[in-house]
Amino acid sequence: MSHRVLITGATSGLGRELALQLANEGFMLALTGRRVERLAELAQAAKDVGAGGVLTLTGDVADPAVVKAHYADIQERFGGLDWAVLNAGVSKSGDAKEGFAADDYRFVYGVNVFGMVNWIEAVLPGMLKEKSGTIVGMASIAGFRGLPRSGPYSSSKAAAIALLESLRVDLRGTGVQVVTVCPGFVRTEMTSRWKDEDMPFLMEPRDAVREMIAGIKAGRRMVDFPFPFSTAVKYVVRNLPGCIYDRVASRGTRRRPK
Ligand SMILES: NC(=O)c1ccc[n+]([C@@H]2O[C@H](COP(=O)([O-])OP(=O)(O)OC[C@H]3O[C@@H](n4cnc5c(N)ncnc54)[C@H](OP(=O)(O)O)[C@@H]3O)[C@@H](O)[C@H]2O)c1
Repeated sequence: MSHRVLITGATSGLGRELALQLANEGFMLALTGRRVERLAELAQAAKDVGAGGVLTLTGDVADPAVVKAHYADIQERFGGLDWAVLNAGVSKSGDAKEGFAADDYRFVYGVNVFGMVNWIEAVLPGMLKEKSGTIVGMASIAGFRGLPRSGPYSSSKAAAIALLESLRVDLRGTGVQVVTVCPGFVRTEMTSRWKDEDMPFLMEPRDAVREMIAGIKAGRRMVDFPFPFSTAVKYVVRNLPGCIYDRVASRGTRRRPK
């Protein structure tokens, strides 16, 4: 049987590119997103390049009832999953001193954190029963440190990094793997809204997804890229003392649009 892969947030950006690269390898794909026409167009494109089967699932990852229903459809059609790539995400930026809205956090956490845990709750029992499977969580280099004007997004990705690490430790020895993906900047619909932002080492989705697939197949715990940027953030920026980081970070970033 070919690999059975779930990709949440497949209608654009990294999710769409991942779907097409895996389709090219003959994988069976369950693809989610809220935009129906985009899903239908992607399903056709994936079949055209060789997908072993495509199931499209329209709906909101933040809604646990939707996620349960989607997983039931996957079970019925594929009988389970080999990889669950939990990629759906949103961003929201803004300077806290110009207005701090709890609703921004509820919105971003709803997708980036609860969307992820809704899916982990759905897929984990089946993977544990099979003693195999890989849960891939899409975090970000933005989760390594609290970024200015990015409270909701940066903290949601920090939560994703920590929850995936806890899960990985708990699941050690069960046969279920957990991979944390931390990209730098990638040219997608999300970053196209950050017009005023400096985006060092901006990557094309094709190259970012190649790094992702190679890292997942190699069984890496953390797949972070591009190398120079992620290394600098992981080993230098992350270890800067707070008094230095606060000064540098509050100067260094221009304003993002809301
Ligand atoms: N681009 C970057 O520089 C970058 C860097 C690091 C990490 N990431 C992460 O990579 C992931 C993909 O982002 P992207 O850059 O490819 O952005 P994108 O092009 O905006 O794609 C986001 C995807 O998430 C889906 N989505 C959003 N809200 C959803 C919801 N409530 N329910 C279901 N699906 C939802 C969207 O589909 P619908 O609108 O059809 O629902 C879309 O397919 C995100 O988790 C993002 O945080 C991106």
